Amino acid sequence: MTFLAKEQILNIVLNAKDTTYLTHNFHPFPAKFIPQIPNFMIRQFSLKYDTVFDPFCGSGTTLVEGKLLGRNSIGVDIHPLGVFMSKVKITKIPEDELRKVPDLIRIIERRIDSFVLKLHGHKTLLAFMGEHIKNGAFSYVLPDFPNRDHWFQEHVLHELSIIKALIMEADVTPELKDLLLLAFSCVIVPVSNQDSETRYAAIKKEIPPKQPFLLFREKALDMVSRVKQFNQMASDCRVDIYHADSRYLDFLDDNIADLIVTSPPYPNTYDYYLYHKLRMLWLGLDWENAKFNEMGSRLRHSSQKENIDTYMNDMMKCFKHFNRILKPGKPFIIVVGDSIIRKELLKGDAIIRELADKTGFKLVNEVEYNLGYASKTFNPAFRNKTKQEHVILLTCEK
Ligand SMILES: C[S@@+](CC[C@H](N)C(=O)[O-])C[C@H]1O[C@@H](n2cnc3c(N)ncnc32)[C@H](O)[C@@H]1O
Repeated sequence: MTFLAKEQILNIVLNAKDTTYLTHNFHPFPAKFIPQIPNFMIRQFSLKYDTVFDPFCGSGTTLVEGKLLGRNSIGVDIHPLGVFMSKVKITKIPEDELRKVPDLIRIIERRIDSFVLKLHGHKTLLAFMGEHIKNGAFSYVLPDFPNRDHWFQEHVLHELSIIKALIMEADVTPELKDLLLLAFSCVIVPVSNQDSETRYAAIKKEIPPKQPFLLFREKALDMVSRVKQFNQMASDCRVDIYHADSRYLDFLDDNIADLIVTSPPYPNTYDYYLYHKLRMLWLGLDWENAKFNEMGSRLRHSSQKENIDTYMNDMMKCFKHFNRILKPGKPFIIVVGDSIIRKELLKGDAIIRELADKTGFKLVNEVEYNLGYASKTFNPAFRNKTKQEHVILLTCEK
């Protein structure tokens, strides 16, 4: 078993330039890995056709890298939108199917234009055609969820509903439909009144008419060109992705993984379920299940005042499964940050050492650096120099 060389890890973390290549830029997600981390770990600690497991796969960074490097992979996450984006990001779509996208976008634009013209009261031919269309086959419904009008301007609600309805009725494969729905999901927060990707508070925004569509078009066309590149570069290795709770992994057999590469939720640092709540409401995904089962959330530790013990107990359940699922002697790479609960600094490496010790993992070595470099954290408040991130190498003893 080799170990983590500090200079090598720091070099990767500090000098990673393009962190959004191929499908990695498909959708925002808090505390994503920079892809260079799983890329390096997979190359260093596994062989072609091995199985790599990420039990907190989030937006699927490890899984995309596994697929690019010719490894099979398994991903689990409690966040339904994370699981959805992971699936889309690892899926190849044939070129002849992708060629349908520009036409579909033109259809959507015509419907949006007629809506926007009516909005301005212009009785042009196009607006007349729009009404005609509305009276004909095409119809859409506005979504219904609490405080909807607090979060969205009225015209935005209509534009998003038109885009979604036309994606849903498009004559395309389910894979392409999912790609388009992910592009749609991307647009939702920027055109809502939500302040930012990691601040769930409403602010006043003036979203111009047609802006939701323009953002959607830009995103969808960019995704299409990236899938074309991904098609060429990705292997045909298998990726199994589960929407599940990593405390309860009985559905996965013993000794099936050759490597674990993961980054768990850090205690009291994020509310993954919350930042994407509006998106999940639009897509009909179960955000409440994510809320109740998310480990380490700020909701649990700041609002509900749970102490570190709940987190440790939950993580212990996860680690016992990881020990069972990983083959004997195989490596477990974990990237974890420090956190603060009730003004007390909790060292991420100390937490992992305690968990490892109690669940049959042996510490090989670790490398640490200041937080903010290695995760694509988009909340500057977390770039606190007193906190560190730790890359820890364990091996499975049993
Ligand atoms: C640091 S993020 C992982 C980000 C990922 N490495 C990426 O590149 O996108 C931690 C993840 O743990 C997930 N999580 C929290 N509680 C969980 C649970 N009980 N079971 C499974 N996943 C959970 C969160 O939804 C989040 O996606």
